[in-house]
This record gives sequence, C-alpha cells and structure tokens, in this order.
Amino acid sequence: MKNYSAMISSFYEKIIGSSPVKNNQQKILCVGLTCLDIIQTCNSFPIEDSDTRCVDYRWQRGGNASNNCTVLSKLGTQVEFLGTLGAGNHSKFIRDDMIKHGIDYSHCPVIEGVDIPTSTVILNLQTGSRTILHYNPNLPELTVEDFEKLNLSDYSWVHFEGRNIPRVLGMMQVIENYNDKIKLTKPDHLPITISVELEKTHVELLDLLPYADVAFISKDFACSRGFNNMSETIRNIARDVKSGATIICAWGDRGAMARTPNGTIVQSPAFPPPQIVDSLGAGDTFTAAILHCLNFVKLRDHSKKIDQKKQDNENNKNMVTDENREMNKNENIVGDNEIVEASQKSLIEKQTRIEHNYNIESLEYSETDFINNSVLHAAVTFACRTAGAKIGFKGYEGFQRICLDFLDDL
Ligand code: FRU
Repeated sequence: MKNYSAMISSFYEKIIGSSPVKNNQQKILCVGLTCLDIIQTCNSFPIEDSDTRCVDYRWQRGGNASNNCTVLSKLGTQVEFLGTLGAGNHSKFIRDDMIKHGIDYSHCPVIEGVDIPTSTVILNLQTGSRTILHYNPNLPELTVEDFEKLNLSDYSWVHFEGRNIPRVLGMMQVIENYNDKIKLTKPDHLPITISVELEKTHVELLDLLPYADVAFISKDFACSRGFNNMSETIRNIARDVKSGATIICAWGDRGAMARTPNGTIVQSPAFPPPQIVDSLGAGDTFTAAILHCLNFVKLRDHSKKIDQKKQDNENNKNMVTDENREMNKNENIVGDNEIVEASQKSLIEKQTRIEHNYNIESLEYSETDFINNSVLHAAVTFACRTAGAKIGFKGYEGFQRICLDFLDDL
C-alpha cells in the first residue's frame, strides 16, 4: 500500500518547495452560483428535431463557484460555498452533494418558493464539446447583507465568480475594509486575498477588476473584448487591474499564461488526455487548482513568518544578560502601541509603492507578496495538468487517483 501522506509531502516539496501546512487552516470561500447540471452524453451532436439516443445520462451539481469548491475539496483545501439556494427538490440534491464532498454551505441563504437554476448539458464525444442550455427561475442573488454575516477571520481567500456585479463590488469593499482594519490592529493576522473570475462575455465584469488581487480571464471573455491570444489579453487587462495584481488567462489547448505581481510572464502548455470524455467544468477545475496552490503558499509563508518572529523575539530575550535585563526590558518587549506604529509605517511605505492608475477606484497595492515567478509558474503548470486530467474522466470523482498519479510522475 502506498504511503500517500509521504507522497503528498514530496509532491509539495517538488512543486512548491515545502511540506503542507497544518490542518486547522483558514478556508477558501467561493462566492457565486450553484445549479443542477443534467448531463446527456452523445456520440455526436444531435440534429435539430431528431430523436437521438444518448450513451450516458446523469445529474451533477454545477455552477462555477460550486465546481471550484468540489475541486478544491478534492485537492485537500478546506472550502466553503456562498450563494443563494432555492428550496425545492433539486436544491436537496445539491445540498446532499455538498455534504458528500465536504463543502461547507452553512451561510447560504435559502429562498423559499423557488428552485435552483438548471443547466441541460450536451457532451459530444466526437468533438469533446460541451453545450450548455441554462435556465434560471429568477433565483434572487446574494446580497451584501448576507455577506456581512460571515466572520471574515475564518477565511484566507475569497474567490468571486464574475456575476451580480454591484453587490459583489460591495462585498469586495467589505473585505477591503476588514483588511485595512486588521493591518492596523492585528498585524499577525492574514489579510484576505480577493480573486475574481471574468468568464461570461459581459463587458461590465471589468468593473470588478480594481478590487482583485488575482484575476482569472477566460478565453470567451477575452475573445468578446477582441483579444486574439493570451499575451494580448494580459497586456490589455493589465490596464484595468490594481497595481501588483496577478492576471491568469487559460486558453484551452494552448495552455495558460499568467503575469506575476512584478510583471513577469509565465506560461504552461496544455496537457490533453488521450481521449476527451467530459469537458464540462474544465475551466472551473483550472481556477480551483490555481487557488489551491497559491493559497497553500500564502498559508505556508505566513506560518513561516510567524515562527520566525517568535524565534527572533526568543533570541532577543536570550541576548539580554541577567544584569541588564531589567534595564532593557522595555526596549525588547514590543508593546501594542509599537505594533500599531510599525504596521502604520508599513502601510505608508506600501502606499508610496502604488503606481497611480487613474482608471480605477481602488488605489490599494495588491497584497500578494507570496506570488513570485516560480510559485506562479508551478501553479499554472499544476492547473493545466489538473484541468487536462479532468477532461479525461467523467465528473470529478477521478481526481484523487489522477492527482496521486501525478505524484508518481514527479
Ligand atoms: C461549468 C458550469 C456548469 C453550469 C454552467 C453555468 O463551468 O458551471 O456547471 O451549468 O457552467 O453557466
């Protein structure tokens, strides 16, 4: 029998450079839609007004943020979903499935008298395409008040699916206020990283960019803006994000490209499986795999920093001799006021780094020091491999096996 925990450690050491952090970590929150996907798999695309036999039929929990949660949970990240839930039979299927996949949905408002949205999906085995017919029975969207009920210190990262724009902007503002507050009052707490996915072809989605530390731009969105490839997309989107934001763009069989906070471009090819079995949710898988890697590095670096700080304090204390301990006590023990002063100083230093971008409202500098060139390159490569593997099997159940197979390869 394989020793999986040792394999996972060695995987992390190779891909990211250290072993995994402890289990009681803060969660990633994914905010957006969940819906029922009714999936019909066909040998070829049906002819209009024909009566065609399918080779497979199944129900699956869908929606971008909901799919992100499934993959994150499979990869071993603690995750919560936030979005409105209807109260009908389909909704019960969705909730049961979240429980099955270890996804916390305890803060989701349940709306009585309406069921959840439904997608009918045609998977075409001949071409590998997935055609989605989506119906939303006017399920009300999440509100800023719903979001304000969360205890934000439970989360290290909040990922927003690009939809419900005015309210999502309000939620991002709530996080920004929280981050500003903890920077001044609790410098050892992790500020929340905000990411956003621009997938659907609505130009208004650009309004979400000024608040995002990490922006995912889909090929569909890029093409709708007239961009022909990944580098053109990244160059143009860079004008709308805040200083130091990370931009990530996946482009199907051309792989993915990303820009680090310091402007370096990293890239990975695609890793297609021998046969395309199920391309539904491949983009959501890619996004989740990136979130998993980057959040891991963020938590790891933070816990290293805290350990180092403790060690430095210990060393400082030990350096004080018995004779002068009394005399130096007040200088060596950093009091609350000094911590606040130090963090105010660091805020001012950060603000001097801001390159003013007058197209955007938020002039904050992105808090993503943990994303360097090699981390982003590893994350993008891992995400391309994971998304490539996903389209080679049905649904999301093959993940554990596939990801552990990657470990064997490394
Ligand atoms: C895949 C998906 C499906 C859902 C549709 C909604 O990315 O989230 O699960 O039916 O998109 O647009």
